[in-house]
Amino acid sequence: MCGIVGYIGPKEKKEILLDGLQELEYRGYDSAGIAVIQGEKLNNFKAVGKLKNLREKTKNYTSKGFGISIGHTRWATHGKPTELNAHPHLGAYSYVVHNGIIENYQELKKELQQEGVTFLSQTDTETIVHLFEKYHNEGFAPFEAFQKMVERLEGAYATLLITEAAPDTIFFAKNGSPMLIGFDGEEVYFASSDTPIIGRANEVYYLEDGEYGYVQNGKVHLFDGNGEKAFQTQPLIADKAMAQKEGYRFFMEKEIYEQSRVMGETMMGRVLEEEIVLDELNADFFEGINAIKICACGTSYHSALTAAYLFERLAKIRCDVEIASEFRYKDPLLSNDTLFVTISQSGETADTLEALKMAKRAGLKSLSICNVDNSSIVRESDTAILTRAGIEKGVASTKAFATQTMVLWMLALYVGQVKQTLPQELLKEEIDAMLRTPKALVVTDELHAKLHRLSKRYLHGHGFFFIGRDIFYPLALEGALKLKEISYLHAEGYPAGEMKHGPIALADAELFTIALMPKTMHYDKIKSNVEELSARDATICAISPLPFDLADDFVQTQYSSHPMVEFFEMMVVTQLLALEISVRLGNDVDMPRNLAKSVTVE
Ligand code: F6R
Repeated sequence: MCGIVGYIGPKEKKEILLDGLQELEYRGYDSAGIAVIQGEKLNNFKAVGKLKNLREKTKNYTSKGFGISIGHTRWATHGKPTELNAHPHLGAYSYVVHNGIIENYQELKKELQQEGVTFLSQTDTETIVHLFEKYHNEGFAPFEAFQKMVERLEGAYATLLITEAAPDTIFFAKNGSPMLIGFDGEEVYFASSDTPIIGRANEVYYLEDGEYGYVQNGKVHLFDGNGEKAFQTQPLIADKAMAQKEGYRFFMEKEIYEQSRVMGETMMGRVLEEEIVLDELNADFFEGINAIKICACGTSYHSALTAAYLFERLAKIRCDVEIASEFRYKDPLLSNDTLFVTISQSGETADTLEALKMAKRAGLKSLSICNVDNSSIVRESDTAILTRAGIEKGVASTKAFATQTMVLWMLALYVGQVKQTLPQELLKEEIDAMLRTPKALVVTDELHAKLHRLSKRYLHGHGFFFIGRDIFYPLALEGALKLKEISYLHAEGYPAGEMKHGPIALADAELFTIALMPKTMHYDKIKSNVEELSARDATICAISPLPFDLADDFVQTQYSSHPMVEFFEMMVVTQLLALEISVRLGNDVDMPRNLAKSVTVE
């Protein structure tokens, strides 16, 4: 997830871009850059790290007078956060900024390289600018060249391009990633969200997927597959805090709603029709590896527990999981045929980082699954797979967990593929289910309203048990963690079959049981476990696609074709339940007491 700003007009462009990027820094901040064309003069600045580094670099530069300008703050997906990989990317005489992932960039890159183009960065974005210049060099007018370029792009993009070939024009295109156009008389702005243009523009147009065009002489020319089209602007809201949350009450709520979209980004270019492709791993990465050990903390530990079921079941490789803070002090026995995997949203968790260092000292090969490129854990690992969730601001992790679990599922299939332990037919079924996941993550108004209504019945009592079996057991742990983090109510996750070995002693009407009852996995077994609790008068909230008579409350899920699809849909239900209970209790959802987003102490 990156942030884009653009401006065409007479004002000081540097300030508009930098202030705008500041508002978008929450979308990514591993590097930033701007490019300005004013008269014949083209200027470009880039800096790694937070925006203040770019401010420092441009402090003596001014850009008043008519001109065109684009800026970008980056959240690395392809290539490390270096100046070369920072946007804007330069061709011979044009600059481009881009948010999203060009899925077919490797194919395009190969084609351009064969025609003699030299690439400077490792990004997918650089193909955009070279493709544009290729068509322009072939004799097409700038907009025709841009149009031809857009036709070749597959994947998600919001992109702005400026070129010396048309020094009074900004070209734009949008598909899958957000972008809007702001208007103040003849001055025109572009941005990834409202906040950079609040206080500057007064009207706005939110671009739709498949739209592209150019702005020249204060006029926007908008096109889609059917040619040029008219469009209607709307007044711009004026509240910045509200705009950053994009209309949601809390970042956590926004992040829950984002899960369907970011899951698409996590899979992009990796989940093909009949194959999983992980460019991050060399062809021989799993050679000599006979087991996997995963270390993580908190929510990341729960995604690891889920993965252990998947690795053993799908890839037929032994996998065990440990809480990083326990692993560190237990004098573990480690052998070199074990791949050491760490999972971390932040990439800075002290215990996970130390566990990784220990494994490295013992000579193990390491892989991290992380949301932050260039974080300590990523740098320390032999290789990393990024989860591409975009920045997560709510302290209670939601979309990071979802994307970690998705990457681990992909990895399990990948291992099965390279080790030839997963039959092609089963691989295909798993991939089909994967591609259905984003749909199961969509939050409908009905579902949210239902959980809002239900939440009022769960504000008291002496505790919650989230119960599930198999992969739904780690999901139960995660559901309970979410609830306790933001509601401050006591909640435990438990394997459903274990309740009768002790915890059932707690059962009475004031014990709330959240039962995860998927249709595709051990339904009858968990049903019996829930019946045992119901017989002891526990209050049951069942989450299932199948109606269940003994439930006091029932949330019916929609998708029941595959355990993982059920897993992700039920995950959303537990997240929304926790959110709504927390709101009713008047708690600070995004910054719950006693917690921090990144735990860099032991
Ligand atoms: C819970 C949560 C924490 C983190 C844990 C590890 O919502 O976010 O439990 O999962 O502190 O953090 P990372 O994943 O950054 O290593």
